[in-house]
Amino acid sequence: MIIAPKTRGFICTTAHPEGCAANVQTQIDYVKSQPALSDPPKNVLVVGASTGYGLASRIVPAFGGGAKTIGVFFEKPGTERKTASAGWYNSVAFEKAAAAEGLYAKSFNGDAFSNEMKDQVIETIKNDLGQVDMIIYSLASPRRTDPNTGEVYKSVLKPIGQPYSQKNLNTDTGEVNSISIEPAEGDDIANTTKVMGGEDWEMWLDALSEAGVLAEGATTIAYSYIGPDLTYPIYTNGTIGKAKEHLEGSASRMNEKFGDGSAYVSVNKALVTQASSAIPVVPLYISLLYKDMKERGNHEGCIEQIQRLFSDHLAGGSAPTLDERNRIRIDDWEMQDDVQSAVMELWEKVDTDNLSEISDFAGYKEEFLKLFGFGLEGVNYEEETNQEVDLPSIS
Ligand code: NAI
Repeated sequence: MIIAPKTRGFICTTAHPEGCAANVQTQIDYVKSQPALSDPPKNVLVVGASTGYGLASRIVPAFGGGAKTIGVFFEKPGTERKTASAGWYNSVAFEKAAAAEGLYAKSFNGDAFSNEMKDQVIETIKNDLGQVDMIIYSLASPRRTDPNTGEVYKSVLKPIGQPYSQKNLNTDTGEVNSISIEPAEGDDIANTTKVMGGEDWEMWLDALSEAGVLAEGATTIAYSYIGPDLTYPIYTNGTIGKAKEHLEGSASRMNEKFGDGSAYVSVNKALVTQASSAIPVVPLYISLLYKDMKERGNHEGCIEQIQRLFSDHLAGGSAPTLDERNRIRIDDWEMQDDVQSAVMELWEKVDTDNLSEISDFAGYKEEFLKLFGFGLEGVNYEEETNQEVDLPSIS
């Protein structure tokens, strides 16, 4: 079929196989242009490996350090009438590129929260790798089924205590308006923590350890976000922030269980991904942030962020640099005082009329489409393409 983008708000319901492959290849090329990782992990499990930060976290150790990787994700394959989801095409492209270089790569498509998925992955580690020495946990999900009770929990993006009103961007129309969000009620905080907190992360590590497939001195990392004061009510001090606090608690518990230095939370930069585009206020902030950081020359995407995470903090045999709460901070460039004060100045000024002049909304839209494989150089979007691409190493 001939595939064009079909977007609605923060959702694009189509994806382009060659475009996604080009996107993955650009990331691989970037990693190869960097110095090889010193003392890299050998066998890496990435949970949430198909898009955004997780995909980058699979590409960096594989192509920068020759690591064998297992990826877990929840994506849709293509059918006769529908394209696959972007993460499916990304993973097919990753697998092909890995195979072309003789790198081991296996992928599992299904629910990472389930016991069955953990069992399947453990079986594969036992059979193929023996043990894993790094586990990256990069899930972003709106819901989770508790594997033991079958109960479904939904996460919400809400402030806590009082309503939150702020400028907001309608990414369909380019209109800067304002949004008001009512505070969390009932079980909102507990449910969001159940989905996006560290419980499942710990369950993965416990399962790997109990099965004897966790290498001595293995490291695990999960990702978090802090951001500027203006998004605090909806992020850091909101329901999702409570879940991220729980994630930090899980890291401490795992450090006690598996030894100091085994679990880290890395605070990453705000970037356009499928998950972040669903958060109110954040797309406008990202459009202003990109404008400033691109002008300064210190803008990074997922792949540059994760390359820096590995080269500066995770590879090379020395311990990562941590903040006062034991977190790795690769959001350091975003949070620099000069960047933040420039972005806040823009924030005060931004409206519908000056959006395209003082923000990088054009860059935001471009990046958003690229997530789904659209707008990549060298791809002929007029051409018929096969939307039903498959690989045997995807289970
Ligand atoms: P994303 O939407 O690009 O990726 C989510 C991944 O989770 C995909 O691979 C998806 O297939 C997988 N997934 C979702 N539900 C699943 C399930 N039930 N079973 C198996 N796989 C499942 O999201 P993004 O933005 O890369 O987020 C990853 C992590 O990074 C999250 O913890 C997020 O909070 C964090 N983060 C994101 C930032 C951003 O600006 N995008 C900034 C800082 C942290």
